[in-house]
Amino acid sequence: MSDVLYDKVRAVELRDGTVRLLDQRVLPGTLRYETYTGAAEVARAITAMVVRGAPAIGVAAAYGAVLAVTEAYARAPREWRAAAAPDLALLRNSRPTAVNLGWALDVMERAMREVGEGSPVPIVEAAARRLHEEDIAANRRMGAFGAALLPPAARVLTHCNTGALATGGYGTALGIVRAAAAKGGISMVYADETRPWLQGARLTAWELVQEGLPVTVIADSAAGALLRSGAIAAVLVGADRIAANGDTANKIGTYGLSVLARHHGVPFYVAAPISTIDPAARGGDDIPIEERAAAEVLSCQGVAHSPVGARAWNPVFDVTPAALIDALITERGVVERPDTDRIARLLSQPVPARQGARSP
Ligand code: MRU
Repeated sequence: MSDVLYDKVRAVELRDGTVRLLDQRVLPGTLRYETYTGAAEVARAITAMVVRGAPAIGVAAAYGAVLAVTEAYARAPREWRAAAAPDLALLRNSRPTAVNLGWALDVMERAMREVGEGSPVPIVEAAARRLHEEDIAANRRMGAFGAALLPPAARVLTHCNTGALATGGYGTALGIVRAAAAKGGISMVYADETRPWLQGARLTAWELVQEGLPVTVIADSAAGALLRSGAIAAVLVGADRIAANGDTANKIGTYGLSVLARHHGVPFYVAAPISTIDPAARGGDDIPIEERAAAEVLSCQGVAHSPVGARAWNPVFDVTPAALIDALITERGVVERPDTDRIARLLSQPVPARQGARSP
């Protein structure tokens, strides 16, 4: 492994028959790993945000499925599929919006169907590890495609955390920043703090500082003034679920950024692997939006700041209409002005190729 953060730090790992998660709730102050021996515990950790970010949740669920199958085979060697089913359902329901979760479990269930006689564990473990490695490879391809869209010495604005912590490794939108920086092409990353979990202020800033890349944290409400200033070359965000027509669910606040970006003529790019596209969702209205506890809004990092009696509304994702997205950057290529036809064409391409944009 190299000494860059995205190679040293793994948000999710399968180690010695356990799932090891970097506890993202306590970063950047504390670097703490939690070890899980059971799939139900992994599902609870996903719900509790120990691990977060759509692709990282998918990898965690795949490794959780390995624990489920291992335990089921030990308990019921002839009925292991039925024995594993309740744990797989817990994993599937641990968070509702990130489609990578269900996608990863579909991959694992396909691997389970390939098992013949004998232990299923080597087959499902190999499938989970492959899924993890493919996510990293996809991110690197996205990085190259996305970096080619940025001007030299770009100043970019990003939201939430889409880096090594949010994925199998390297990152989606933040992977593009990494790829651009490697070519000397980033002069500043503005990171929205991303209330209420502060994924931008805590996690994106941590990743970039660790690597010596320039980062400026802004309050979410400062994004309008920043975009108006003319300083920003592009807004780069990730995605939790992309509908067949290109409507994209991502961290709450992304929609507002897309409106501001369009108003100020700043390109708005979504970076996500193909596994984030959900062809079963025809449009944004078909995407389930997670709502979390009011306390997350009424307090900050555990300290209450609103009066007792105040209520809160806490949808943790919003939907950006495809019409506000200038390009979708995937490992198969860049889709400019995504719509139903262009996304269908992208999904039908098995081999990495470009669609409607320049080469990296
Ligand atoms: O609630 P979170 O932290 O899981 O939300 C994460 C995001 O919204 C990310 O932008 C998205 O998952 C893409 S991560 C590559």
